[in-house]
Formats: sequence, structure tokens, C-alpha cells
Amino acid sequence: MNEQHAPPGLEGLVVADTEVGGVRGQEGFFHYRDYSAVELAEKRRFEHVWHLFHHGELPTEAQAAAFAHQLVERRTLPAELQAALSTVATLGKGAHPMDALRSALSLAAQTLGTRPWLDQDAAAVREQALTLCAWMPALVAGLRRARRGEPLPPPRDDLSFSAHYLYLLSGQEPSAEHERALERYWTVTLDHGFNASTFTSRVVTSTGADLGGAMVAALGALSGPLHGGAPGLVIDMLREIGTPERAAQWTRDALAHGERIMGFGHRVYRTGDPRAQLLREVARSLGGPIAELALAVEPTVLEVLQAHRPSRPLNTNVEFYAGVVLHQLGLASEILSSTFAISRSIGWAAHVAEQMAHNRLIRPRAAYVGKPPPTQVPDAA
Ligand code: COA
Repeated sequence: MNEQHAPPGLEGLVVADTEVGGVRGQEGFFHYRDYSAVELAEKRRFEHVWHLFHHGELPTEAQAAAFAHQLVERRTLPAELQAALSTVATLGKGAHPMDALRSALSLAAQTLGTRPWLDQDAAAVREQALTLCAWMPALVAGLRRARRGEPLPPPRDDLSFSAHYLYLLSGQEPSAEHERALERYWTVTLDHGFNASTFTSRVVTSTGADLGGAMVAALGALSGPLHGGAPGLVIDMLREIGTPERAAQWTRDALAHGERIMGFGHRVYRTGDPRAQLLREVARSLGGPIAELALAVEPTVLEVLQAHRPSRPLNTNVEFYAGVVLHQLGLASEILSSTFAISRSIGWAAHVAEQMAHNRLIRPRAAYVGKPPPTQVPDAA
């Protein structure tokens, strides 16, 4: 077999076939199945798009109602899992909410009884995935509340998936505008090609491991600042910048210190991130000081980045306006990554199902580049 070296970070390599969706970096376009993801966000409710992920097709009105009902039935955590959240939420001084979510997701999978899928019926695993994803808002909101010693408000069955999450966090029924803004954000962040967390979910699934293992590992990948850890950091950055007049100097200083500017740059998009375009409009329509600051700061940051790296197109990515929109919805910056995980977990579930259907163990090789072996092992003193 020829030794073939993959590029660092596997950049540009196609490593699998998928029918879940795709990203066309040069065109600034991405899709779920054969539909434009942005058009889905504009025209469909979140539950409709989730149906597309779970069943492979958009629902009829009757199917949408039945699916939404199924999700409502699964939105409440079992009492023992809810009770465990208060322990998880307070473990580890200064632990990030994503750390707590990783632990809680593992407990949730254990509560559901996920097993190595090779021993299970695929339909049963898909059902478990649906429940695990439906539990995610209560896990995130439950951890947030438990950290402050507050219980979750009683679940409601008359709210959509998005409205219910905002309700669990604040105890108040959100406005239709906020509900819709969250739906649009969640719709465009369900899936995005072979990003690191999705790839991780497929690697773990390829070993025959359980759904819980795949989801927890994917969440670990998502937590990094180069992937899903960025939206909260965007808000911290905007707070540091403070006013549009300070943006140019702040960005130049950050670059001079070798820092990356959160919410800019992308591995695949070269002409612009369509998710950023949609969320910019959502942020603009919600309005308020943080949106005004972001809209004023963005062109300056882009100008400085362009001057700093003329050869590399560095555009605004999804996380810049994701951070802004979620902040506008009243979410604390520490839980923005966990909020991202709620929608992306549905994408992982679709990839887990696809990997199970066409499995082959993912097991590449590495080229050893250290000192040539074998060095004689010295005798112990
Ligand atoms: N700020 C400053 N410089 C950046 C940058 C950013 N946001 N994004 C990329 N660059 C620079 C890199 O330093 C690198 O310079 P070098 O060639 O001198 O080392 C060059 O652009 C290419 O970057 P590279 O890391 O190869 O790009 P990538 O395709 O691997 O990275 C990201 C993509 C998203 C990881 C990267 O753009 C980034 O770190 N962005 C900030 C974090 C973020 O917004 N994450 C959310 C992603 S949706």
C-alpha cells in the first residue's frame, strides 16, 4: 500500500459520503438533504427541519403535528436525571457550563440505557437519539438553574421546542419574535458538513460504541474555541472593544499578540458564511446596543484582518452574529455554546444513523516521524 500523507487538519479531503447535507465553500451555500438550509430557516418551523433530519423528508402538516407532539412528550427529564443535575452543576469550582453539559449528557445517555449499537435494532437507536436530543434544552436550562439553586419551572406542552427552551431558562413565555429568532438560529446550526464534532460522532459510532459515547465525544469536540466555543467569546470580545472607535486598534493589538479574532475566518467558506448573513439580519431586526455595536465593529475588523492577511479571505463566520442574537434573546454568554449544542446534537444524531447504516470502522494511519527505532531499552538502574 502506498504511504499517502493527508494534509494537516485533513483540509480539503473528502473522507465519507453523506446524504445529510453539504457545504459549498466557494459559493457560500449549504444545504440539508437537497434543500437550502437558509431557505428552510426562512420558510419552515424548527420542528419541520428536525423531521427532515430524523425521517429524511419534510413533513406534511399532519406529520409535522404528530412529530411536534412526539417531541413534546419527550421534553421532560426523568426525575432521577433532573435530581442528578444539581450535583453535576456544582461540581468543580469555576467549571464551564459545557463541562457540566458533557457530564449531564453522559448521565442522560446512561439513564436512557444506550448500548453498543451493533447489538441493537437501528430503529431503537434512532428513537433513543430523538429522546436524547429532545432532552437537551432541559439539560442545559436545568444545569443553569441548578447552579443558582433554582428548580426548572413546570414543563409546558403548549410551547414549541424553541419557545420552551427560552421558557425553561427565564420562567417566562417568550415573545413570538424571540421564539422565531431562536428557531432560525437553530435551523442554520443543525449541521454543517464534516465539521470536527460531526466527524467525531461518526468516528465513535464506527467502532460500534453506543449513541451516548458518540454524542458525548462530539460535544467535547464542539466545546473548543475553534469550533463551538466561539459565540460566548464573541460577546466577551465586543464588551472589551466597547465602542466602534476602539475596534481598529483593539483588533490590531489582538493580532499583534498572535490572537485569533473570534467570529471570523472559516475552514471551508471563502466568499462569506451564509449563516452569518442570515443571523446579521436577525440581529439587526431584534436591535439593541449589542447589535448596533456588532454591526458597527464588523466592517472595521474585516478591514484590519484583510490588511493583516491579504492572501487569506477572512470573513465573518456564523459565531459572530450567533453570539449577538443569543445575547439579544437574554442568554448569558457562558451558555451560548451549550445552546449551540442543542441544535447540533440533532445533526450528530442524523450522522450517527447514517454511519450505522453504512458502517466501516474509521481507522486511518499516522506516519511515525520520531527518532528511528529500535533504540535499545536501557536496563533499569
Ligand atoms: N483571526 C486572526 N487570524 C486568523 C483568523 C482569525 N479569526 N482565522 C484565521 N486566521 C489566520 C491564521 O492565523 C492563519 O495565519 P497563518 O497562516 O499565518 O498561520 C491563517 O489565517 C489561516 O488560518 P487557519 O488556521 O489555517 O484557518 P483554518 O481554516 O484552519 O481555521 C478557523 C478556521 C475557524 C479555526 C479560524 O478561522 C479561527 O480560528 N477563527 C476564530 C475562531 C472562530 O471564530 N471559530 C468559529 C468557527 S465557525
